Amino acid sequence: MAMIWRHRGFAAAGTLALAFALTGCGGDGSATPTNTNTTQTPTPTPPASTNAADNAVIQQFLRLDLNSLANYAAPALPAYYDSTLDSLDNTPANDPVDDAIATLGQVLFFDKALSVNNTTSCATCHQQALGFDDNEQFSTGFSGSAFTAAHAMRLGNIRYYQPGEMFWDRRAASVEDQATQPILNPVEMGWQDSGGIPALIAKMQGLNYYPVLFRFAYGDEAITEARIERALAHFERAMISADSRWDRAYAQVFNPNAPNRALNAAFPGFTTSEERGKQLFMTPPNAGGAGCAACHVPPTFTLAANSRSNGLDAGETTVFKAPSLKSVSRSQFFMHDGRFTSLEQVVSFYNSGVQDGPALDNRLRQGNAPQQLNLSAADQQALVDFLLTLDDATLASDTRFSDPFIN
Ligand code: HEC
Ligand code: HEC
Repeated sequence: MAMIWRHRGFAAAGTLALAFALTGCGGDGSATPTNTNTTQTPTPTPPASTNAADNAVIQQFLRLDLNSLANYAAPALPAYYDSTLDSLDNTPANDPVDDAIATLGQVLFFDKALSVNNTTSCATCHQQALGFDDNEQFSTGFSGSAFTAAHAMRLGNIRYYQPGEMFWDRRAASVEDQATQPILNPVEMGWQDSGGIPALIAKMQGLNYYPVLFRFAYGDEAITEARIERALAHFERAMISADSRWDRAYAQVFNPNAPNRALNAAFPGFTTSEERGKQLFMTPPNAGGAGCAACHVPPTFTLAANSRSNGLDAGETTVFKAPSLKSVSRSQFFMHDGRFTSLEQVVSFYNSGVQDGPALDNRLRQGNAPQQLNLSAADQQALVDFLLTLDDATLASDTRFSDPFIN
């Protein structure tokens, strides 16, 4: 099981030459899934004396201990998070998630100072308790009076969207490429009209914790756009969702040698309706199912690389992606424009509302026409019940992804 992210890079320069103090996994309050049978890779951390002065600086602002980093690089994952997922993972082969860099990313993600007027952080619109979604249809930007043009997106499992492109319309080439776009965006965090990245960097240089954290993560204090992007990307790629009820049940039946790796087996603890919904989700329409898994692919429930749009509007030409469906029930608005406000509406749409257009995916066509699933009310409810089993309460409360700021 050679998973890319298990090969940890040692980016905290100056630590390599020193004797490592080996710690177990977990570090600073990292919650690990209970349904795991994988082994831990110890995370080397520098000896305590190395970081005492730096800790004194950052602990004025942050609940962090540089001698005891959270485990982002090698979390314990269920057995089915194995090498079969490597081909989906958009983590650059030469830049695996690193604990020190991801820790810097955590600080950046929650720092309102990254907006021009200290009002807005990434976490303002990507709230952990909501699966990193926003509870508004269109998010309020730093000004308080301008709104994003699209609904926000949950962030769990973004590393497993194989094309790596970010935003609903896939306009950012990678997680890294996406990361400074909201910072610059004139609605979201505002720097484009206020001096751009150079002005942001000048501001960050004046915040005592950043020179320390950049040196800790990268070996010297230089703050650059590429380093900001890389740290946010490490943090976001660590947001793996693997502890929903679906995961806990699948972990009990998973068999790498069974047909479809036992994804179609009966899941222990599922109600009759949840199990029915699971079968509908997994089974193609021409075999009596609803065909959802062909695009929203388990076990990560990220979108298939070759998925095209799902026919929300007649004549649609844009090819949209979707975030992973893990924790989808924490969202209050669904689709790129947040047009639906319940999962019942979503399922009803797939049942009878799919519209034709150039971007419509063939998987949602029957012959030349958009699909009509003709599901009973009970079957539609079963699909909703199944979607609720994808809720990951662990990701929503894991302190590795929580606000590290004291104030
Ligand atoms: C004002 C609200 C707001 C802020 C602040 C914000 N975002 Fe977003 N985020 C959004 C919206 C809205 C979208 C969808 C936009 C679109 O597709 O056009 C989005 C999309 C994303 C995506 C794409 C996910 C995917 O699966 O394609 C990522 C990643 C992301 N944001 C990360 C960040 C990071 C990192 C920050 C901070 C640097 C941040 N966001 C700040 C609202 C926000
Ligand atoms: C052809 C691939 C495809 C199939 C099949 C498919 N979907 Fe989707 N799904 C998408 C795309 C693409 C989006 C994003 C569309 C947009 O916002 O423009 C999406 C969005 C969603 C969303 C909203 C996600 C969010 O964060 O707002 C849910 C929920 C969903 N699909 C559930 C289902 C269910 C349930 C089924 C089966 C009945 C299904 N999908 C079948 C491609 C597909």
